[in-house]
Amino acid sequence: MNDKKIIKKVSSSFVTMTELVLPNHTNQLGNLLGGQLMHWIDICAAISAAKHSQRVCVTASVDRIDFLHPIKLGNVVTLLSSVNRAFNTSVEVGVKVFAETPIDGKKFHSNTAYLTFVGIDKDNNPVKTFEIQPESEDEIRRYEQALERRQRRLKTRHVSN
Ligand SMILES: CC(C)(COP(=O)(O)OP(=O)(O)OC[C@H]1O[C@@H](n2cnc3c(N)ncnc32)[C@H](O)[C@@H]1OP(=O)(O)O)[C@@H](O)C(=O)NCCC(=O)NCCS
Repeated sequence: MNDKKIIKKVSSSFVTMTELVLPNHTNQLGNLLGGQLMHWIDICAAISAAKHSQRVCVTASVDRIDFLHPIKLGNVVTLLSSVNRAFNTSVEVGVKVFAETPIDGKKFHSNTAYLTFVGIDKDNNPVKTFEIQPESEDEIRRYEQALERRQRRLKTRHVSN
């Protein structure tokens, strides 16, 4: 049996997703719908989780997301995600969202989101994931903060009967 421990880099979970805000993504004011942005965040983060865990991952939870600035029709939205920390069967993924006006190139940081994903097998059972080794200063900071967020999250976790 090959029981060599695999430790993965954060960079192997990097995802960049780019979307153009079209009329069917907006409300009556021409602002991007919050639910649409959450959908893109979920997809982007799910790909990062799957790249790290090398299996299908389901969303276990999404931390609070604040919408501080409207994103307008015609803006280009870029989402950057990576795994901040791997635990036992779960991983925390961080997603940074930027919006840009393509005509004048003005870009702003719109949101940051943290999501937890669990890798599952064909019977939907959680499976142990790979360890992760943060390298850069930012990766180490995110890795450390992810543990604090997990502890807060699990304290308020709702367990169904
Ligand atoms: C997420 C899911 C796989 C967890 O399964 P479970 O039987 O509760 O398993 P466990 O209690 O053993 O938890 C498994 C892992 O999930 C984590 N987890 C479970 N609920 C969590 C929550 N609300 N927030 C953060 N992490 C959570 C646990 O901490 C554990 O992580 P660890 O192994 O790294 O310590 C299961 O609840 C599920 O399938 N949910 C539906 C997922 C889905 O359909 N998502 C799409 C959104 S509708």
